[in-house]
Formats: sequence, structure tokens, C-alpha cells
Amino acid sequence: MAEPERTLIIVKPDAMQRGLAGEILTEFERRGLRISALKLTQVDRSLAERHYGIHKGKPFFEGLVSFITSSPVIVGVFEGPDAIAAVRQTMGATNPTAADPGSIRGRYALDIGHNLVHGSDSSETAAFEIGLFFQPEEIRSYRRDIDPWIGA
Ligand code: RTP
Ligand code: MG
Repeated sequence: MAEPERTLIIVKPDAMQRGLAGEILTEFERRGLRISALKLTQVDRSLAERHYGIHKGKPFFEGLVSFITSSPVIVGVFEGPDAIAAVRQTMGATNPTAADPGSIRGRYALDIGHNLVHGSDSSETAAFEIGLFFQPEEIRSYRRDIDPWIGA
């Protein structure tokens, strides 16, 4: 069985405005991942700049910060075997026109700046991003009765 991992997801402002939050969370749940933490929040400029710090200086940075702060978002921690890769695969490629047609972005999005969902891209960024959005006591470790049937 693969190592259990945790990853951070954000249901971005475009998904919130389009009423796709439930759909997106369902995709990750149906994949077999466990919800370890979940909340509705509004990202402020300082948090956005820390979260997307890797992109500072790039031409799309300012637009990205304005976008992610433009509406409440749902932020969550999902847990399971190879959770980071599983979430990235379920999301699809950054540019929706290149995303697998079965992925969230491939099914529901058209534009790179409106790609609905964020997922951490490595174990280092997952640990960093989870720490940005959640206090340790907000994250729950638990088992579900179905986990052996998922391998989770
Ligand atoms: P995210 O961080 O939001 O999960 O997306 P990602 O890993 O798939 O993509 P990343 O390279 O981290 O870029 C972060 C977000 O910036 C926007 N972007 N725009 N115009 C552009 O060339 C461009 N490149 C990236 C996207 O909205 C992307 O999700
Ligand atoms: Mg990224």
C-alpha cells in the first residue's frame, strides 16, 4: 500500500461563484480520499502572496492574487495513499484546454486563469500550504469503515 499523504485543496473563487464546490469535493471523496479538514474562508492579500510566493515576479502574479482574493473559497485537507498525485490527476493540467477530458478542469473549465481548483504539487508544498491555512487542531486523523476496501 502507498504511503498515506495529506494535501491542500482550494475550491477557487470561480468554482464558488459557479456553484461547483460540491461537485469538486465529491470528485476527491469518490476517488477515495478522506476529508481531514475543511472550511469556508476569504483569502486576504498577505495570505495569497505567501501561498503563491513561488510565482512572485511572473506576469500573471498580480492577476492571480486578485483572483484568489475575489470571493470566499473552500479550503481543505484530503488524506490518502499518494494523495498529492491523486488530487493533481483528478484536477487535470493547469491549462484546461490541455487537461484530460475526464478531469475536473477538462470537464468544467476553459481558461488557465479560471481553472476552478488548486492542489499542492509536492510533499514540501503540501506541508507548507497546510500550515498556511490550518492550525494543527483543525486537522482530524480518523479511519472510515470502508478504508480497507479503498486501500486507504
Ligand atoms: P494551482 O497552483 O492553482 O493549483 O495551479 P497549478 O499548480 O496547476 O499551476 P501553477 O503553475 O502553480 O500556477 C498557479 C496558477 O496561476 C495561473 N497561471 N496563469 N497565464 C499563465 O501563464 C498562467 N500560468 C499559471 C493559473 O490559474 C494557475 O492555476
Ligand atoms: Mg501550483
